[in-house]
Amino acid sequence: MNVDGKPTRTIWPAADGQSVEIIDQTKLPHRFEIATLRNVDDAAHAIKAMLVRGAPLIGATAAYGLWLAMRGDPSDAGLTKAYDQLFATRPTAVNLRWALDRGRATLAPLAPAERADRALSLAVEICDEDVGINHAIGQAALAVIQEIAATKTNGAPVNILTHCNAGWLATVDWGTATSPIYQAHDAGIPVHVWVDETRPRNQGFNLTAWELLNHGVPHTVIVDNAGGHLMQHGQVDVVFVGTDRTTADGDVCNKIGTYLKALAAHDNDVPFYVCLPSPTIDWTVHDGVKEIPIEERDADEVTHISGLDAAGNVSSIQIPPTGSPAANPAFDVTPARYVTGLVTERGICEANAAGLKELFPENGQ
Ligand code: MRU
Repeated sequence: MNVDGKPTRTIWPAADGQSVEIIDQTKLPHRFEIATLRNVDDAAHAIKAMLVRGAPLIGATAAYGLWLAMRGDPSDAGLTKAYDQLFATRPTAVNLRWALDRGRATLAPLAPAERADRALSLAVEICDEDVGINHAIGQAALAVIQEIAATKTNGAPVNILTHCNAGWLATVDWGTATSPIYQAHDAGIPVHVWVDETRPRNQGFNLTAWELLNHGVPHTVIVDNAGGHLMQHGQVDVVFVGTDRTTADGDVCNKIGTYLKALAAHDNDVPFYVCLPSPTIDWTVHDGVKEIPIEERDADEVTHISGLDAAGNVSSIQIPPTGSPAANPAFDVTPARYVTGLVTERGICEANAAGLKELFPENGQ
């Protein structure tokens, strides 16, 4: 998507042919900065410290991380070490394992001297595929927006609520949940997006609002707790969210708070769609609540908040009293029964094993 009118992706090989560049998402929305990854340690740090985040982008960064590792040590031991180091960065988004497994399966049979070049071409492939997949997801969900738009009078917008950032910043481009929004907006369909803050790290305010603002999509920022109220008052037509891992039975793990949005949507008959590229499906897992590992992040993310102060500097402040312990589960699981449909690159299906198997017959177990 565009940044200051210039088409931009979230990750790309640097012009020096030896490193990778990313948008440092910890600096948004108040500063747009590019960071350079020069080795596998930089790539692992970028994922762990969330300079890059979002399930598809985590996978893409891991693929580039393997390239950087193979430039340094292309031996079998080097490949195993890089796989383990990158795999340990974040536990919930299954795209990480998917990209690393694909990398290892591609590189292991090659002679060490051939591995670095192939790792680079694979990372580029994974990124290009992600862009195509996300565009296709947007095409599939565009039909949902068009159907709602047809019921509106006097050019009233379709009101969409989204949670966290499943936007282009969470992928290589387009986003998943935002892809239909951008495509509807670009096609001249009036849309308006409710963007919730997404405490504790505020990906809604920091990232989704920044993206939509840059692209000129009408939106309003709200606190996390406002969604249910807006749904009760007919101000949300549809919810689109992303996912970090979807089970073979259609349970959806996504940013903490997604489950509460799904409950409110269910109570108010608001359609709740989850947009996902197929690498986000974990075919080995069935019961999301019991089986998906939920990342527990630093308590500081809960107790502190950062933003622009009156002097125009980004600063961090503490909110609760010193000494109150904090817990920080980063994701939750929405059971399939609350999901209206799963939007994939192959179309929309019901959130259950039969629906997923029909779209992906080669994978269903
Ligand atoms: O902790 P984050 O910012 O990596 O969490 C991101 C999300 O929960 C997204 O909704 C998910 O990765 C889908 S991104 C297309």
